[in-house]
Amino acid sequence: MCGIFAYLNFNVSRERRYILEVLFNGLRRLEYRGYDSAGISIDSSSYSGSDLNRQIFTPPLVFRQEGNIESLVKSVYQDVDATDLNLEESFSIHAGIAHTRWATHGEPAPRNSHPQTSDAGNEFLVVHNGVVTNYEVLKETLVRHGFTFESETDTEVIPKLAKFVFDKANEEGDQSVTFSQVVIEVMRHLEGAYALIFKSRHYPNELIACKRGSPLLLGVKELAEEAGIGASFNDTKFLSSNGQPKELFLSSDANALVEHTKKVLVVEDGEVVHLKDGGVSILKFDQAKGKRGGTLSRPASVQRALSILEMEVEQINKGKYEHYMQKEIHEQPESLTTTMRGRLIRGGSCKAKTVLLGGLKDHLKTIRRSRRIVFIGCGTSYNAALAARPILEELSGIPVTMEIASDLLDRQGPIYREDTAVLVSQSGETADTLNALEYALENGALCVGITNTVGSAIARKTHCGVHINAGAEIGVASTKAYTSQIVVMAMLALAIGGDLISSQERREAVIDGLFDLPSKLKEVLKLDQEMKDLAKLLIAEQSLLVFGRGYNYATALEGALKVKEVALMHSEGILAGEMKHGPLALVDETLPIFVIATRDACFSKQQSVIQQLHARKGRLIVMCTKGDAASVCVGGSCRVIEVPQAEDCLQPVINIVPLQLLAYHLTVLRGHNVDQPRNLAKSVTTQ
Ligand code: UD1
Ligand code: BG6
Repeated sequence: MCGIFAYLNFNVSRERRYILEVLFNGLRRLEYRGYDSAGISIDSSSYSGSDLNRQIFTPPLVFRQEGNIESLVKSVYQDVDATDLNLEESFSIHAGIAHTRWATHGEPAPRNSHPQTSDAGNEFLVVHNGVVTNYEVLKETLVRHGFTFESETDTEVIPKLAKFVFDKANEEGDQSVTFSQVVIEVMRHLEGAYALIFKSRHYPNELIACKRGSPLLLGVKELAEEAGIGASFNDTKFLSSNGQPKELFLSSDANALVEHTKKVLVVEDGEVVHLKDGGVSILKFDQAKGKRGGTLSRPASVQRALSILEMEVEQINKGKYEHYMQKEIHEQPESLTTTMRGRLIRGGSCKAKTVLLGGLKDHLKTIRRSRRIVFIGCGTSYNAALAARPILEELSGIPVTMEIASDLLDRQGPIYREDTAVLVSQSGETADTLNALEYALENGALCVGITNTVGSAIARKTHCGVHINAGAEIGVASTKAYTSQIVVMAMLALAIGGDLISSQERREAVIDGLFDLPSKLKEVLKLDQEMKDLAKLLIAEQSLLVFGRGYNYATALEGALKVKEVALMHSEGILAGEMKHGPLALVDETLPIFVIATRDACFSKQQSVIQQLHARKGRLIVMCTKGDAASVCVGGSCRVIEVPQAEDCLQPVINIVPLQLLAYHLTVLRGHNVDQPRNLAKSVTTQ
């Protein structure tokens, strides 16, 4: 969904062309989140802080365009040509902001794109990720004060409110009102979720960022340090303005920072980050502290330490692949290895094989004592939890229930103090899952997070959890995160199961199975061409049903989700046990039906399902364990996909791969966008 990015260079000369390219590139890195329009703002002329004259400083330039980032780039360069804007002009200090928008309020159009502005003179400009829920009442008030609105967005009230606060302070004689005071006063009036960056012609070369609910990171690149001339990294030093040349970045996503710097600060809710004169001050917003004696409050700054991003630039490149989804499917043997690294202990001659989840070790006793484990997630993350449910029930003996986050909230379903709520989310920022987490916290449950994003809202707000360490996932359709999530939840089951003698053999078999997974993944990926051939056969179909049960009910749901998400083909995952209770009516000679029938305790039941579908002349594609083709394919009449066998509870990790490949190839063959499917966003940060 919406992405925000900002670039501020301090005491280092950068040409306008360079600044534009950094901003465009930042937006390209956010592209995968899903968007429908984009915009940027840069200064119209270079400006030296010493001869500051707020009134004559020319308005910043704003460029906004609907469609993709390349249309924005094109329109910016057209405007540059038309206005003879000098691309070679150098700025020793400059603050630029940029945005990708996912339409919520108002259609995709330049007027609704960000930056949104306070007035024709662009006195205050804002880029926003999130939703302002009380914008209508704010708008009415501002209209009463003479403001006119040009967009349908909720965001437009923010820059206008900033101008209102600034003008009022000046009218009341407070000429020294600072940028952060203005922003903090604006925040006092905003309800909803947001990450915001403000730029203002009244405060040239400064930026303010703040957040509540939506993710935001600050990246710091000390250039003197890079050139090897002193200024070693120090946790708090960056907060002061030391005059050293540096580049500062703000982004809703680590992906846009990693190529510039790994030194980041994950901004917390209620923090206001003020970039000024090469320094960074972090202020704490306090809703209760408003005006004092007629002047705006001056909050104290807080000390924060930078952390180091555990991410490599290669993770955000496609490498030898054509699409991110393709790359992410094929890198699953490696991503699973990383997920398990340091967490599986093989055991010596006399030591048992075991699992160590550092993030959970202090909470295992409480989890074991819980009356119920509730899995909560959306989309693929929900499916991953569903795949892990049987092994968690088996090894822990604790009842495990499943909740789609939005449904739990809609029903206000019961959650108790004795429950352990496990919140599963690749991004760690999904609004529905985050709201369900708040709800579970309010109800006193122990909250455990399973997420791929260190520093994400879910990672921070849960009591404890496990990072799946799958590496950045950029394709909107989740693939490698899904398999890593299942593996983490299988390890969770092992950890909760503890050292019960009765299940020791099974636990050791599962641990061995986990060790073997990467090599089995490599093997199943060899089906790539076979799945491409199958995709060619299915290219013109309207619909695809996927039948699964037991461990692989989740595989059926997730396989169907992949096909509908990216190939834009109707597809439904069906619990095979329900076949006779409705879906059988759909079976005919034309509708393709994919049946998952790999070896496990449900195998004979799946054989019977195949028989029944065959008897109705169903057009079957059967996934079976290597060597089982003859026993699943009645009279050789169906197409068979043979996959390597894994421990039954881990088989979903193998079985999803051919379906991921099928969805991928179907999408390419049908000519659709693989990495940014129609209408979908990678991380859905609004309800
Ligand atoms: C941690 C380190 C890892 C290091 C390893 C060495 C981090 C992020 N991880 O990994 O770099 O190699 O120790 O022993 O620094 N958490 C939540 N909610 C979540 C996810 C995690 O609260 O949704 C918490 C965990 O409870 C834990 C911390 O975050 O306190 C880190 O979790 P995780 O990365 O899974 O822990 P380790 O695997 O031990
Ligand atoms: C979105 C994505 O809907 O969010 C899905 O398009 C994803 O692919 C779902 O499964 C949940 O996301 P997350 O980040 O909470 O796992």
